[in-house]
Amino acid sequence: MTRRLLIAGNWKMHGSVEMTTDLISGIARAALETATLSEQRELAYDILVCPPSVYIPAAVKAADSQPIRVGAQNAHAKSQGAYTGEVALEMLSELGCDYVLLGHSERREIFSETDDEVASKFAACCENGSMVPVLCVGETLAQRQQGQTETIVAAQIDAVLDKVGIAGFSKAVIAYEPVWAIGTGETATPEQAQAVHAFIRAKLAELDADVANALRILYGGSMKAENAADLLGQPDIDGGLIGGASLKVESFAAICDAAHVLALS
Ligand code: PGA
Repeated sequence: MTRRLLIAGNWKMHGSVEMTTDLISGIARAALETATLSEQRELAYDILVCPPSVYIPAAVKAADSQPIRVGAQNAHAKSQGAYTGEVALEMLSELGCDYVLLGHSERREIFSETDDEVASKFAACCENGSMVPVLCVGETLAQRQQGQTETIVAAQIDAVLDKVGIAGFSKAVIAYEPVWAIGTGETATPEQAQAVHAFIRAKLAELDADVANALRILYGGSMKAENAADLLGQPDIDGGLIGGASLKVESFAAICDAAHVLALS
């Protein structure tokens, strides 16, 4: 089965209104230029950008009529209430977000989000139904060194399965992001990443082969122009979740170009 590649930028806490507008129009221009050179009228893969939530309106405006979707980096599981500083899924969807990252390792590590809290957010997103949840999973360096990669990733996914079952993954995306590769310049080798992606797909296939086959599993962790083609070329890697290299038109567009080449091959 061919899954459409998804190239997603996670801007984290970076940017400004001006940067949001310039980056989105620059990415769109570059991606459409590459497509036109190959005589494609539309992109053969998907592009997503996830700016800080305050810049979502500017991003949605800049992405209007461009082949770029906008996502949020986090959301609260409750739809409203006394949760100072939090943002509800409904609010993000009202602004025009189509995707929401859930359980990014920085949320888990710095803001102490547990597997169960992340799963509650995922369940709320499924119930709400207006946005695609991107469930981020991945092990730390110590966990990998102790041979716990699969156990950790399985537990993160099981927490979600416990709440929504396999059906919850029929409209979702998973991002495998080894914590030791995020923002470190160290990337998982294509073989290391492929092995975990295949493990995730096989695990879900035990519950529903169709859902598992259709599920897009992104790789994240120091993806850049130099390694994108090799990573995206792996059979179970269906895109990238890109931090540092998503903040400049040239570096993000170069990853989009790698997706373009693979999508047409
Ligand atoms: P990085 O971040 O590309 O800067 O490693 C990836 C992420 O955190 O999603």
